[in-house]
Amino acid sequence: MSNKVKIGIIGLGFMGTTHFQIHQKLGKSEIIAVADVDEKKLSGDWSDVVGNIGDFDYSKPINMDGIKTYSNAMDLINNPDVEMVDICVPTFLHEKYAVAALKNNKHVFCEKPIGRNLKDAERITEEAEKSVRFFSNGLCVRYWPEYRHAFELYTSGKLGKVKSAVFKRVSPSIHDNSWEDWFMKEKLSGGALLDLHLHDTDLVRYFFGKPVSVTSFGMEGFRSDSGIDHVVTNYDFGDGTLIMAEGGWDPAKAAPFEMSFQIVCEKGTIRLSEQGYKIIHEDGSIEEPEPATEELPTGWHVEIDYFLSCIINNVQPDKYLSTAEMRESMAIIEAEELSIKEKRSVKIVY
Ligand SMILES: NC(=O)c1ccc[n+]([C@@H]2O[C@H](COP(=O)([O-])OP(=O)(O)OC[C@H]3O[C@@H](n4cnc5c(N)ncnc54)[C@H](O)[C@@H]3O)[C@@H](O)[C@H]2O)c1
Repeated sequence: MSNKVKIGIIGLGFMGTTHFQIHQKLGKSEIIAVADVDEKKLSGDWSDVVGNIGDFDYSKPINMDGIKTYSNAMDLINNPDVEMVDICVPTFLHEKYAVAALKNNKHVFCEKPIGRNLKDAERITEEAEKSVRFFSNGLCVRYWPEYRHAFELYTSGKLGKVKSAVFKRVSPSIHDNSWEDWFMKEKLSGGALLDLHLHDTDLVRYFFGKPVSVTSFGMEGFRSDSGIDHVVTNYDFGDGTLIMAEGGWDPAKAAPFEMSFQIVCEKGTIRLSEQGYKIIHEDGSIEEPEPATEELPTGWHVEIDYFLSCIINNVQPDKYLSTAEMRESMAIIEAEELSIKEKRSVKIVY
């Protein structure tokens, strides 16, 4: 008997189709069902799908033989053969389907952000903590090869204490083919602050613990209706360390996607930039590790591979991310939003 996890994917946009390809490559799961409100995507025609990373070719139709297709996601959740539900719908729908799937005794992998706001995050994590099934959230940058390598190096203490750190994530506005332009509707996506910058807020929390307060500056309503399209935040840990993050989706369409960071420690600097991934030691020596593998080239591969392995081996998937941390990162984002709106530093309530 196959021990592959039987999965159903909800939402076949940029992320759902990316997960679909990754599940097929990893070979630890069997996609037995998909749900989408778009009949064209259910038929295997993904030619309209566009995203900021990844190079999948959707010019030819995808073979959907043997996969049950649903236009109502609740029918997929109610399919007794589905063991794991992979939620890749727009953010405002995460809470509805994640809670329903957990209540229905499914393992759930939900794309980031966990929900549209802290209340959604609390509702989902409360249900996940009650369930005997597993839950995880696609905060994929924690799993991204260079970031994971940097995290392990930093937390090993070999480079000494951090003195300053800057994380940056800037994407061109390339959401033209998204479902009903939902990214640009603040109520549905939370703007670039929640959708994009959350990754770096979460990294700050992952690398350095819980900041005491934040001071943020934002620009809103340029690309989206009323969302924050670009944000710069200082995270105050109360110990004089300078920790900053910047994120935005405001550059013109032809601008390149950028994700980068620099962590300056007493004995060396860890840097991911256009020049590559480098550890620059105080004595002048430079290391250029290549942590990505052909099998697991991106954080998306690593997070899905890890979650499937946890289900197969019946091990709680909390090595990289806990439900408490999912809530904490959302609490920091909400403090950043308040800081921008009220033009003041905001103490974070965890
Ligand atoms: N981890 C990452 O790096 C990353 C990158 C991009 C997007 N995301 C997240 O993934 C999620 C999806 O984003 P996307 O870029 O794939 O969006 P998208 O607009 O490309 O795709 C959304 C899909 O959901 C479908 N859909 C809408 N309502 C539905 C419903 N009620 N039931 C079933 N299907 C429905 C749409 O038809 C569409 O196919 C978002 O939460 C987003 O923030 C994560």
